[in-house]
Amino acid sequence: MILSTALAAVACAPKAPKAIPTDNAVEAKVEKVLKGMTLEEKAGQLVQLNISTLEDASREKIDPVKLDLIIGKYKVGSILNVMHDAAHSREHTAAMVRQIQEKSMEAIGIPCIYGLDMIHGASYLVEGSLYPQEINLAATFNREYPRLMGHAMAYETRAAQVPWVFSPVMDLGRDPRWPRIWESFGEDPYLQAQMAREETIALQGANPNHIDQEHVAVSIKHFMGYGVPVSGKDRTPAIIAENDLREKFFAPFLECFRAGALTAMVNSASINGIPTHANAVLLSGWVKEQLGWDGMLVTDWADIDNLYTRDHVAADKKDAVAMGINAGIDMIMDPYDPECCTAIVELVNEGRISQARLDDAVRRVLRLKVRLGLFDKPVWDQAYPDFASEKFALQSYAAALESEVLLKNEGGLLPLKEGQKILVTGPNANSLRALNGGWSYTWQGKADDYVPQYNTILEALQKRFPGKVSYVPGVEYDPSDWQIDKVTGLAQLKAEAKKADVIICCVGENSYCETPGNMDDLNLSANQKELVRAAAASGKPVVLVLNEGRPRLIGDIEPLCAAVVDVMLPSNFGGDALAALLSGDENFSGKLPFTYSKHINALHTYDYKVSEHREIMEGSYNYDAVMDVQWPFGHGLSYTSFAYSNLQVSADKFTSADVLKVSVDVTNTGARAGKEAVLLYSSDLVASLIPDVKRLRGFEKISLAAGETKTVSFELPASALAFVGADGRWRLEEGDFRLSIGGQGLMVRCTETKVWDTPNI
Ligand code: BGC
Repeated sequence: MILSTALAAVACAPKAPKAIPTDNAVEAKVEKVLKGMTLEEKAGQLVQLNISTLEDASREKIDPVKLDLIIGKYKVGSILNVMHDAAHSREHTAAMVRQIQEKSMEAIGIPCIYGLDMIHGASYLVEGSLYPQEINLAATFNREYPRLMGHAMAYETRAAQVPWVFSPVMDLGRDPRWPRIWESFGEDPYLQAQMAREETIALQGANPNHIDQEHVAVSIKHFMGYGVPVSGKDRTPAIIAENDLREKFFAPFLECFRAGALTAMVNSASINGIPTHANAVLLSGWVKEQLGWDGMLVTDWADIDNLYTRDHVAADKKDAVAMGINAGIDMIMDPYDPECCTAIVELVNEGRISQARLDDAVRRVLRLKVRLGLFDKPVWDQAYPDFASEKFALQSYAAALESEVLLKNEGGLLPLKEGQKILVTGPNANSLRALNGGWSYTWQGKADDYVPQYNTILEALQKRFPGKVSYVPGVEYDPSDWQIDKVTGLAQLKAEAKKADVIICCVGENSYCETPGNMDDLNLSANQKELVRAAAASGKPVVLVLNEGRPRLIGDIEPLCAAVVDVMLPSNFGGDALAALLSGDENFSGKLPFTYSKHINALHTYDYKVSEHREIMEGSYNYDAVMDVQWPFGHGLSYTSFAYSNLQVSADKFTSADVLKVSVDVTNTGARAGKEAVLLYSSDLVASLIPDVKRLRGFEKISLAAGETKTVSFELPASALAFVGADGRWRLEEGDFRLSIGGQGLMVRCTETKVWDTPNI
């Protein structure tokens, strides 16, 4: 990033209206509390510690002596995480929070704020309702699901006395090697922004100034550019052009700030050589000044320490604390070191953190607590009758059904025919852990230990096809290391295959999270490929089921399989959903929210530049060639077929102030009902910066009975066709654009060039 340009842009930016409107009563309360605080109390508010700093020897209870020290002496303002890295009951969690709140009110008169990584439902509560991971919700292309999940997640988290979640995740999953792409809504900025916005509003409710007791504060994360490390490994440096940063990576955050997101967590890594935790331009400039955002920025895990221990931009701890807070950090997730409070006190006394910056950060923390109603009710008594309800379970099942993607179905192998003998194989066939992925009951995921009552893929198929299913694992995971699998029975597979009519091969990945999910080869493991080859060698048709957090390369084994389904991480009802889809009881409607790459040296996104790709088969300079991928973004089949016709636009010429109305007719031309995600793309045909080949600008999910036609309409503001130029400003340029939906296309022309700055809140 060109720091000076960006800083200059901050300086000249017009005073923006505030992202969250000021509420005078909230502000008055904040000022009143602030006035009575000592420096030590202020420092404490800026520190968040891990719950392990309060655990007793059993690691199940709070040690009162430690509570005295952490809250009583250091006056720490926030606690995170679960005891013993394990899910607990709602009662256990609530009792623990009560104890902390009692101490906090008695010792400092300020409530503590507890935060948890609820990532796909109340994923740290034993009885919590889990939904498919965000990558699956993206594949539904249905805004209803992040809304439903956000509501249930907020409700159940609040039922356990916890008012803050570190969700939604909105890192653009634009590098399939990165181990966290499944935590967010895929590679596209628009899809990501739309889905994250729904989840944010569902989590917080309609009024961010007054969060009621069925809602929680969000922490949108990880701000920003975290998902494209050059190495493909977690928490490693990214190089991102400033225009891409503004146009693509900022997009979901901007949408959520506009929707009232109260807190944001910062990207652990670095962009263009600057650790994000020290990036004043992004933290104070883009977010706080330009958006007029009065929320709170929290660090990620130990990332202030990383400024000196890892990144070497600070000399020592105090240097790092000063650097982070002066860049705009308001709360430091330390997570084990209460001495961080002492460092803040010293830095203020030494003048290295100004009184004004200290007070601003403290105000932001207090404002959050006031907005959550924690001063009035540090704990609350309310019935939560829908907690762990069937209602939420049915929603999770429905989301799983709409999220599993049928990628290939040659010769109509699917749906399976009644009476067929089915051989199920593969390391993912009988695992709830693999169906859920990480952040499921524990950090790295341990669903089988907590919720054996749910059906694995194997169990669901056995229930749907009684007496017809046999099982040979063939390859099994090492439970202690997700990357290790071993071949356990190919001879047995061969023998069983003789008796079967069809083989369902369930492969992919075991659960992982963050840095432990790093790996050196995106190909599906050699053992699992061998399994697929062995299954195919039997001569029986193979259905390949991919259960994975990122698209592992399968270019060499895909031709051996007549059908392929990517279930990604569909959670506890993913097995049931798959059985219903494979049997044809339900119809597929998921579409890929990412590009499924085919070659390790061709990891692209769908919005690539023409010059990024040269199709070798067609000649080195064939710029009309299409990308050679396994399956493109937006690909997904159904048991029925859809025809698109009659694409129309309200005007073929437009100015920057216009809103284009685009419509298309979609007909279900098959014999059974189905749902279809209708995707609207635009292509800028000539632009002053090399344009992307196409960009998603709208999507709607519709249901159609056999033979039915529906007209789907989109409102497309001209500003949505703008891009960010090299100077960091938005540009809508005079010229031609192609709009396309479902293979239909038409041209529209912008008759003026207009340039403006973010924000436009
Ligand atoms: C992760 C965050 C998470 C935090 C707190 C970090 O390691 O990167 O996503 O919210 O831990 O658990």
